[in-house]
Amino acid sequence: MENMMRAGNSRRASMACAPAGAMASRSEPLLRVDGLCVGTEHSDLVLDVSFDLAPGETLCLVGESGCGKSLTCLATMGLLSAPVKRKAGRVMFAGEELSGLSETALLRLRGREVSMIFQDATAALNPVRRVGDQVAEVLSLHEGLTSRAARDRTTELFEMVGIPDPRARLRAYPHELSGGMNQRIMIAMALACKPQLIIADEATTALDVTTQAQILKLLRRLQAETGAAMIFVTHDLGVVAEIADRVAVMYSGRIVELATADTLFDAPSHPYTRGLMACRLHAGTHNTGRLAAIEGVVPNPTARPQGCAFGPRCPQVTTTCVEMPALTAREEGHSVACHYPGDDR
Ligand SMILES: Nc1ncnc2c1ncn2[C@@H]1O[C@H](COP(=O)(O)OP(=O)(O)OP(=O)(O)O)[C@@H](O)[C@H]1O
Ligand SMILES: [Mg+2]
Repeated sequence: MENMMRAGNSRRASMACAPAGAMASRSEPLLRVDGLCVGTEHSDLVLDVSFDLAPGETLCLVGESGCGKSLTCLATMGLLSAPVKRKAGRVMFAGEELSGLSETALLRLRGREVSMIFQDATAALNPVRRVGDQVAEVLSLHEGLTSRAARDRTTELFEMVGIPDPRARLRAYPHELSGGMNQRIMIAMALACKPQLIIADEATTALDVTTQAQILKLLRRLQAETGAAMIFVTHDLGVVAEIADRVAVMYSGRIVELATADTLFDAPSHPYTRGLMACRLHAGTHNTGRLAAIEGVVPNPTARPQGCAFGPRCPQVTTTCVEMPALTAREEGHSVACHYPGDDR
């Protein structure tokens, strides 16, 4: 844990080199998600999610499978598709309400000011088009570059994301490249127009540990250079320690704890966060390979228990927990949704 924290701290120190203006004051977030609710006609999948993000800042979304991380990202990008829709709440980006924009305006924004990197690059890339053309097209579309200028810039981008022999790789098809190389191409595409916000949903999960470390380092470097903010979804608390400024822990559609990475690792307050930390330590110390050591499973969104959804799995549950605990500030910048936060009983 100490090593993880050191890695996190050295990263935060490197953020001090971000360009002037990259770290905006907390009163002027680049992104503000306010009371976001997402679901279908019959289910509530994301409930009252609120957070903000300053330029240059990285927020990690963590939590078990099915707790609403991807839907939160997709809703932020305006990419939900039927039957899932935004039922309430607002998404403000650079002072503009995205939730009110037309599809045409959103298309202009995506890829240029906001980019998303998905888990499975090989599936996200077009299999029948050369990777160079796919990245060059983004540059022609959004930046109006000529085909020659777009190709030259694509070569530079490939070089920047660590693709060996970049000029030759322009002509490759996705199936001719490894998963790690395709992920780098996705990242090159996402960074092509120097977006202000990058949303990375499990962007490194499918990669081997060495490639993952290289990609994280690369993202951090590029972020420090361009001052981009990032939402980074991951299951891996080691990755969180490496990359996060702040962390939102999600459980069954809600944020249950929101804190700086330092606070979250030093003083996790929600029993669920503490459980996740214990899993991490347990897996690290005994090398069991088991990450989900919290008994039980995340409830089905259509059959949540009354009150706190974590109640049935919680070691500290009492009769009070049938009342939904509100996400409440414990101290500046640290909020927890629990009736007994940080309680060691
Ligand atoms: N198109 C859909 N229709 C109905 N339910 C959906 C749809 N997409 C997601 N869900 C449900 O919404 C909940 C949240 O899903 P989401 O994909 O956001 O979870 P996640 O936290 O990203 O999980 P994972 O870690 O597995 O990626 C889950 O219960 C999921 O089954
Ligand atoms: Mg997901």
